[in-house]
Amino acid sequence: MKISFKQTKNLDFNKVVDIFFEVGFLKHQNKRDTYKRAIKKAFLNSQFVVSAWIGNELVGFTRVVTDKSLFATICNLLVKNKYQKKGIGKELVKRCLDKYPQLHLFIVADKKVVGFYQKLGFKIHPYGMYLEKGKKACVIYN
Ligand SMILES: CC(C)(COP(=O)(O)OP(=O)(O)OC[C@H]1O[C@@H](n2cnc3c(N)ncnc32)[C@H](O)[C@@H]1OP(=O)(O)O)[C@@H](O)C(=O)NCCC(=O)NCCS
Repeated sequence: MKISFKQTKNLDFNKVVDIFFEVGFLKHQNKRDTYKRAIKKAFLNSQFVVSAWIGNELVGFTRVVTDKSLFATICNLLVKNKYQKKGIGKELVKRCLDKYPQLHLFIVADKKVVGFYQKLGFKIHPYGMYLEKGKKACVIYN
């Protein structure tokens, strides 16, 4: 199984949204168009997008939002279910780290993937904070 990686924002966002649904991050098919618009805009406004491919099949992706001087955050790291645990997620994160080696990198992780990020050297910050705006504030979480 040959996996290749591309650094491009030029993705088929229908396929991107399919993977969001497949991993359970999106629930309502009737909101698909709204989700797709929001996700496409988020990817296009990111500074770095990297995707994983098996032949012509998009199998995973992630993106970085950064000021390119001090801070960067990794968002939306997703690998298709049947290709998980094959090193693809790790390689996608590694390419983000390689792209911005000098920046402070932070992520907001799902509880179930904390171990994955710890394996890559990330530490849990005891004072990480966020502003609770409620689910309605973000179109893809309602
Ligand atoms: C999280 C995710 C991206 C990991 O991608 P992946 O390709 O399966 O991970 P890898 O195969 O590169 O795993 C790298 C290492 O982490 C381990 N690992 C993978 N998922 C893990 C998890 N959930 N918890 C702990 N360790 C995990 C692997 O066993 C592997 O360990 P090894 O290096 O000792 O062999 C993938 O499971 C996924 O897309 N999940 C659904 C979406 C999601 O939750 N994304 C995270 C958003 S915060």
